[in-house]
Amino acid sequence: MAPAFDWESVQQMSALIDDLPGHLAPYALTSGGGLHTDLGDWHATTMARHCDTAGEFSLQRIDLPGGSASPFMTVPGHTFIHVLEGELTIRFETGTQRLIGGDSASIPERTPFALAAGAALNSFYLYTTDDWLQRLAERAGTPTASHVFTRRPARTFSALLAAELADAAGVHLVEADADGRPLPPRAGLPGGAEPFATKAGGGDRYETYQQINAYPVRARNTGGRFFAMDTRGAKAPYIPLHFHREHSENFLCLAGRVGLYANGTEIVLGPGDFLHAPAGTIHSFSLRGNNTHMLGLLTPPVFEPFFEYMNTPTEAIVHEEGGQPHFPAEGFARAQAELDLVVVGPPPHTA
Ligand SMILES: [Fe+2]
Repeated sequence: MAPAFDWESVQQMSALIDDLPGHLAPYALTSGGGLHTDLGDWHATTMARHCDTAGEFSLQRIDLPGGSASPFMTVPGHTFIHVLEGELTIRFETGTQRLIGGDSASIPERTPFALAAGAALNSFYLYTTDDWLQRLAERAGTPTASHVFTRRPARTFSALLAAELADAAGVHLVEADADGRPLPPRAGLPGGAEPFATKAGGGDRYETYQQINAYPVRARNTGGRFFAMDTRGAKAPYIPLHFHREHSENFLCLAGRVGLYANGTEIVLGPGDFLHAPAGTIHSFSLRGNNTHMLGLLTPPVFEPFFEYMNTPTEAIVHEEGGQPHFPAEGFARAQAELDLVVVGPPPHTA
């Protein structure tokens, strides 16, 4: 199947800053940037829509008060949640899991799930291959200039979902029996596309010099739609300038500073900032702060082996500082030979 995007024209585009392009283009948002909608007592910040990503994914940040709880629902596409702050309890028919900052959950298409917020302030990213939350926001939400949830919601998110508009967005309320017990313990990530949660620092873990790279969800868990990479590390210089022909790379800075080049523009991400680098974008990244934490979302997941080529398996939760600086040149060369990686220049500069 021909790709839905034209990487050669993407390469000619300057990165937009603090604007959703409405068409496929590289762009960055500083924390709080995007479209704002109240969905009852949920506040949604839309950071990417299908029209910005050639239908690859959409991304929202959700802020919600304690006590807000959704009914069981099913949604189209594969959904991935990463908790930023507070406490979120996710219920499946197979078990219930309490999630705190850094934890994530993987929700396959049409899997019944329900969410409940337990702390005073709660926020999470919701990344999905479908546009269901954006459709819901457009049809049933209230646009707002605010960046936080409203103190006086007219109704709850749950009541909003119960309205008939939800069905039109592809969100269906379903009868389901939650298993109140925790999700069954397991070693490593599941073998297939089943609902599961990953604790902060968990997942399939790898390490390289002063850096831990962990997969909280992999291609086999998402029906081959995307994978996520959770990177924690010390300051690290830029890698060689490169681009990808087939997949987009999406960077969320969670802590510290991430240095990025995107089609000639240097953009430094702080916590809450986001960069969408669609296929074609000439880019590089560096870790610019101590204890930098970055979440990468790559779709389609053709690049998943890169992190295995560039790292070694580890059971460690944290990176180790000190020692001889080391760039895994062999793994990088193998990635160039085998994967969707076109190197176009040396590292932009040493961070
Ligand atoms: Fe890349």
